[in-house]
Amino acid sequence: MITVETVGKLQAVLSEARQGGRTVGLVPTMGALHAGHASLVTRCVAENDICVVSVFVNPTQFNDKNDLASYPRDLEADCTLLRSIGAHVVFAPTVEEVYPEPDTRQFSYPPVDTVMEGARRPGHFNGVCQVVSKLFQYVQPERAYFGEKDFQQIAVVRAMTRDLRLGVDIVACPIVREESGLALSSRNQLLTASERATAATISRTLSESIGWKKSGAKVAEVEARVVETIDTTAGLRTEYYQIVDSDTLQPVADWESAKGIVGCITVYCGSRPVRLIDNIRYK
Ligand code: PAF
Repeated sequence: MITVETVGKLQAVLSEARQGGRTVGLVPTMGALHAGHASLVTRCVAENDICVVSVFVNPTQFNDKNDLASYPRDLEADCTLLRSIGAHVVFAPTVEEVYPEPDTRQFSYPPVDTVMEGARRPGHFNGVCQVVSKLFQYVQPERAYFGEKDFQQIAVVRAMTRDLRLGVDIVACPIVREESGLALSSRNQLLTASERATAATISRTLSESIGWKKSGAKVAEVEARVVETIDTTAGLRTEYYQIVDSDTLQPVADWESAKGIVGCITVYCGSRPVRLIDNIRYK
């Protein structure tokens, strides 16, 4: 495994590695890697000749300075994990390397980027598109791997990839969970042990809601019951729970309104508090 910090070095390494038609896969990350990231990297290694992992905490996608400052970082531990699972190239640039000039590009992909996270974190998806488009340009991968925990992010990245005709196959990988059901996230590191136990209520409630749907509850009833269950748990506060069409991410009126339906949630947990997201597929 080789670690590079500059775009020039990355491209030199990749142009040599591509000789003989070798394929390249990319796993974009912000580091603080866990088993969820490892599952993306393992799949990338299996499906491509060369697996590139980017480790870069992208400032342009944070609309909250404190959130950016407290985001966990540990490049050494990340590299140890990546080496053990067979990644070939780690790209860990500085902010100046990725943004030598302020990025003034504006990306807008309604309706998928205007709802849920898009409505509550102004500029977040614009920042994601800025950095992902740069990474795609540097690496020119055949495939790029994203975790389904960030369900909306995948929809936005797909829209951008189509719009700019980047020719990258976006591979969505299933959420990896702790034994308690809590979706793995770098932010889980910021939770105390007892907050972590409390946070498991989120996925447990989402799983239970599948049964509520089966017993005949309407969409609005399931939404209300999920929010009520979580908000009556000490230490948790729901920011939103929305049951949406899995393609357009628009709210659905009933279970027959769309072919694919997913429930997306954001919850604040603990005293800090830590913002956690999760989702569940109903059909
Ligand atoms: O999902 C993330 O970790 C980030 O949003 C990404 C895709 C690496 C872009 O910074």
